[in-house]
Amino acid sequence: MQDVDLARKEIEKLREEIRRHDYLYYVKAEPEISDYEYDMLLKKLEGLERKFPQLITPDSPTQRVGSDLTKEFPPVEHKQPMLSLANTYSRQELIDFDRRVKEGLNGEPYEYVAELKIDGVSVSLIYRQGVFVQASTRGDGKVGEEITNNVKTIKSVPLKVKLENLPSELHEEFEVRGEVFMEIEAFRKLNEQREKAGEKPFANPRNSTAGTLKLQDPRIVASRPLDIFTYYLLGSNYFVSTQLENLNYLIKAGFKVNPHFKLCKNLREVFEFCDYWEEHREELPYEIDGAVIKVNSIAQQKKLGAVAKSPRWAVAFKFKAEQTTTKLNNIIWQVGRTGALTPVAVLEPVFLAGSTISRATLHNIEEIERKDIRIGDTVVIEKGGDVIPKVTAVVEEKRSPESKPVKPPEYCPVCGSKVFNPADEVGIYCVNSECPAQIKGRLIHFASRNAMDIEGLGESLVDQLVDLNFLKSFPDIYSLKEKRAELISIERLGEKSVDNLLTAIEKSKNQPFHRALFALGIRFVGAGVALKLANHFGSMDKLMKASKEELESVADIGERISESLINYFRDERNRQMIEKLKAAGLRFETQKPLTSLNNLTGKSFVLTGSLNSMSRNEAKEKIIERGGKFVSSVSFKTDYVVVGENPGSKFDKAKKLGVKIINEQEFLELLGE
Ligand code: IVH
Repeated sequence: MQDVDLARKEIEKLREEIRRHDYLYYVKAEPEISDYEYDMLLKKLEGLERKFPQLITPDSPTQRVGSDLTKEFPPVEHKQPMLSLANTYSRQELIDFDRRVKEGLNGEPYEYVAELKIDGVSVSLIYRQGVFVQASTRGDGKVGEEITNNVKTIKSVPLKVKLENLPSELHEEFEVRGEVFMEIEAFRKLNEQREKAGEKPFANPRNSTAGTLKLQDPRIVASRPLDIFTYYLLGSNYFVSTQLENLNYLIKAGFKVNPHFKLCKNLREVFEFCDYWEEHREELPYEIDGAVIKVNSIAQQKKLGAVAKSPRWAVAFKFKAEQTTTKLNNIIWQVGRTGALTPVAVLEPVFLAGSTISRATLHNIEEIERKDIRIGDTVVIEKGGDVIPKVTAVVEEKRSPESKPVKPPEYCPVCGSKVFNPADEVGIYCVNSECPAQIKGRLIHFASRNAMDIEGLGESLVDQLVDLNFLKSFPDIYSLKEKRAELISIERLGEKSVDNLLTAIEKSKNQPFHRALFALGIRFVGAGVALKLANHFGSMDKLMKASKEELESVADIGERISESLINYFRDERNRQMIEKLKAAGLRFETQKPLTSLNNLTGKSFVLTGSLNSMSRNEAKEKIIERGGKFVSSVSFKTDYVVVGENPGSKFDKAKKLGVKIINEQEFLELLGE
């Protein structure tokens, strides 16, 4: 036998052994060998693969972490839609769900499987001939994003499964769905590291999971301990009889399945399951936000079908938001970019639902008065989903007799000017438009992702640059380049980061008109309104001259918005500021189509696959800017289907329906680019 044949055998044996130990360690948490012994096996395999690189296959345990950056996360069309679940919050709602199931099944007997609802990010994994080939996010349920390289780093995701453990219909191809998550402890450690490095901590384990799955560098992904629980097995012609059997196949094939699932014969047992886990959720090392109740029989699931985006055979039972009590040390008033003062509770730090909480929102003075919240009180705080924690009640027994009701501030805590409380509002405002807090808020908004998208100009840098008098208004941003040397001398800002910032600022001048309009932060002019105004008026000059009637003739623009615009443009300071921005080179005009052919008014576009020259979102913006429509699915009414790389089933559908298909080049020509 030749060397390479021997090596092949040896390599296959080693991989097999490593796969088994991966399974024992990461899926079952019952390792049989020491870490050292494991490392030796891996080293041996790496050595052999180095010698025989032609034998490296993507499913080798050495290939979990790629070294190439993932430049984009191309769209992936799901073979079967990834549905979401209807939420229920009370026993009564579960009773109603059960009644609908009973009615739908015309009196047939049925059972449920109750599972934990893992609070993570749902993913779809595709295997061909037992080898992991693709992972994608849920996206909008029909089209998700490909995140294969990142999911590959998750050690509990098998890169290869033994086909003999699966029914033959799945040998060619199957799909597994599950939830990627991060354990609470791992999340805490990650946040500690981030804070040390001056990075913004994640709000909760789910956000850190979602953020990690979208990182471009798989090596960083690999360093973050992501994990997965799978709950679904799919394949064409694969007919399994129950969800329980589904879970058992997953287990048999070596996937990680959450062990706390239970077959429930009736609703009473479902209640028991929910009550138990609502009570004991804190004992789990990962976060759950409820239970998922599924009709066990797949035939019955089919019979019940789905409505809109969620199945009728399954429901989520959401646990009550986690609560705890802590001391309210102070109430501070934060000033936003519009001058609105928002009360914020400063709390004695307390651990709740995956993170340490030291601040909570109090909404407004009316809320404080209604709940009679006082400084020094012991308060109940809760965290529901991903929202900012809030103070829900006061523990009155623990109140000190000296405490006094909170009074609204009379002066702005930042600039000291007298505040204003409009007669018909609960809100309190700082009316000094020069207030540093307002200046900072406006600048942060201006530079933000959906506005001018100036990378690097975030909260902390804006804070610094305003405090050091570099920035006061938007035009100052564009003259920063004249102060390069001074900027470099600022502590913590090196030459490289200053140059990156200046480049990002220059680049932002090319942002289309609607973004520049949104960036100004005119009251009630959100991103959507800005786009409509930009499309209708075409330039800042025309918009500034528009009368109230003209403004209101635009679809969805009512009195509230038109008045706000008129007031804004009436202010001489705003007009001067806009002039300066124009002089700096901002685009205050929509890009005119070059020829009449380029006018896309009324034309509808579907995009499938990825484009080289722009992201999906940019393509969408460009189509809309030119008066066209961007739609998600192909029909007879579609005018153009733009086909990029790796197109999905929309391409096939377009061919079937005979819709006009164009490639990227033709699309660019249509756009006039
Ligand atoms: S079943 C139609 N089972 O909850 C079936 N989902 O809206 C839908 N989730 O998107 C999924 N744990 O991300 C199912 N044991 C579990 C789950 C689970 C968490 C997530 C999943 C889904 C969302 C429901």
